[in-house]
Amino acid sequence: MSIVKFYRKEHQVPLEMHKVRIVQKLYLPTVEERLAKINEAGNNTFLLQNKDIYMDMLTDSGVNAMSDNQQAAMFQADDSYAGSETCNRLRKAIEDVLGISQFLPAHQGRACENIIAETFCKPGDVVPMNFHFTTTKAHITRMGAEVVELVAAKGLAADSLDPFKGDFDIPRLKQFIKDNKERISFLRIETGTNLIGGQPVSMANMLEVSDICRKEGIITVLDASLLQDNLYFIKTRESAYKQKSTKEILHELCAAMDITYFSARKLGFARGGCICTNNEELLLKMKEFVPLYEGFLTYGGMEVRSMEAIAVGLYETLDMEYINQGPMFIEYMVNELDEYGVPVVKPAGGLGVHLDASRFFPDMPHDQYPAGALAAAMYIAGGIRGMERGTISEQRNPDGSERYAELELLRIAIPRRVYTLSQVEYVADRIKWVWDNRNLIGGLRFVEEPPVLRFFFGRLEPIGNWQEKLVRKFREDFGDSL
Ligand code: F0G
Repeated sequence: MSIVKFYRKEHQVPLEMHKVRIVQKLYLPTVEERLAKINEAGNNTFLLQNKDIYMDMLTDSGVNAMSDNQQAAMFQADDSYAGSETCNRLRKAIEDVLGISQFLPAHQGRACENIIAETFCKPGDVVPMNFHFTTTKAHITRMGAEVVELVAAKGLAADSLDPFKGDFDIPRLKQFIKDNKERISFLRIETGTNLIGGQPVSMANMLEVSDICRKEGIITVLDASLLQDNLYFIKTRESAYKQKSTKEILHELCAAMDITYFSARKLGFARGGCICTNNEELLLKMKEFVPLYEGFLTYGGMEVRSMEAIAVGLYETLDMEYINQGPMFIEYMVNELDEYGVPVVKPAGGLGVHLDASRFFPDMPHDQYPAGALAAAMYIAGGIRGMERGTISEQRNPDGSERYAELELLRIAIPRRVYTLSQVEYVADRIKWVWDNRNLIGGLRFVEEPPVLRFFFGRLEPIGNWQEKLVRKFREDFGDSL
């Protein structure tokens, strides 16, 4: 990774080693329009229209910018149904980059999860993992199995500055295996642990977990969807790996796992999904589900052009000058917000900036959805679309009571290679304004609540007229500004 120092140290900012060659026009509606739009969308940022959004920071999934080389590779896609050269090129890329010789294609990450869960889980089983992801958990529970989270306590401690908050609690894992060994379908490690703020897992911890599982004969499954950021953090935060190349690190990690799968909407700057393994026996068990659910074994529901883009994107994942951009921008924003006193998840992780809504609104009950209220306020304040990662994203308990999220977060994702620093500055500025005006902001309540995946489709309304007050304050502070 190149080091570029600024002459005026106080002006040092993260510097991209790429330039933008295709642009998309953006539009920022007025604050009055934003108030109307968020209510038309039922105060649910998933239901906003992209044309009404200035900064789309909902996710980093499928919205990362492709490189010139990815675009070029897409032209050579070979879409023969069977025996396609594109499939061979992707297999070769997976072998070069991850050191894994076999893969099964699937249309995206959750499709890989569907196949893995269906192959290995049965009713009564349990799947230990550092932390769940929504789609992963849904597939495992659909099979009648249960998810158990074994993330170390630091992972859920908002004030912990540990560099690897996604680590497993090893003593708990050992005890858990002792008590439940017969019921364990597999163990899952999620790199760049999404729902606790994109926090990385250390190599030392992953290798130790793998070692324990190998000795106990438990299958290890690595969710590498967010491995790109995690790789950057291993390289920069874990001293034993500073001198190793990104490729050496990936090979060492994947060799320690039985199965590695990923959403190529995240890893590889493209769209699709891959289940990779060197274990022929495990491959055979999963294989039959690909033609059943996804498509023939050479494309698995992916568009061949996307497969070409993944292959090139995987090689780009080895380049620190590409993979540092997201984490560096996130760190820049986290530091700026933290200095101002805005409660953010620290240390800066991958994926995006995570605002701690419980500390924005310490008196707001969980069932008024603080993280959802903050998401609506951010859209009103700046046309910024984040994603609620709190109680709305949970499912109610079987008795209908709310299951309160352990963390009430608003995720402001930073799609890779997409936004410029001035846009990131703008977002930080509007977050500071919302923080200073947090006392004006109230809660939300459901007006339409679907029983499943309510965070995608549910509609809510503000409790009281806090949103009108926020708009009035915006006009007072910003005059005729958009
Ligand atoms: N695993 C992790 C860690 C993820 O973050 C995601 C998706 C998936 C699996 C599923 O992959 O979307 O391709 O089916 N995360 C997206 C997000 C949806 O916005 O965080 P997918």
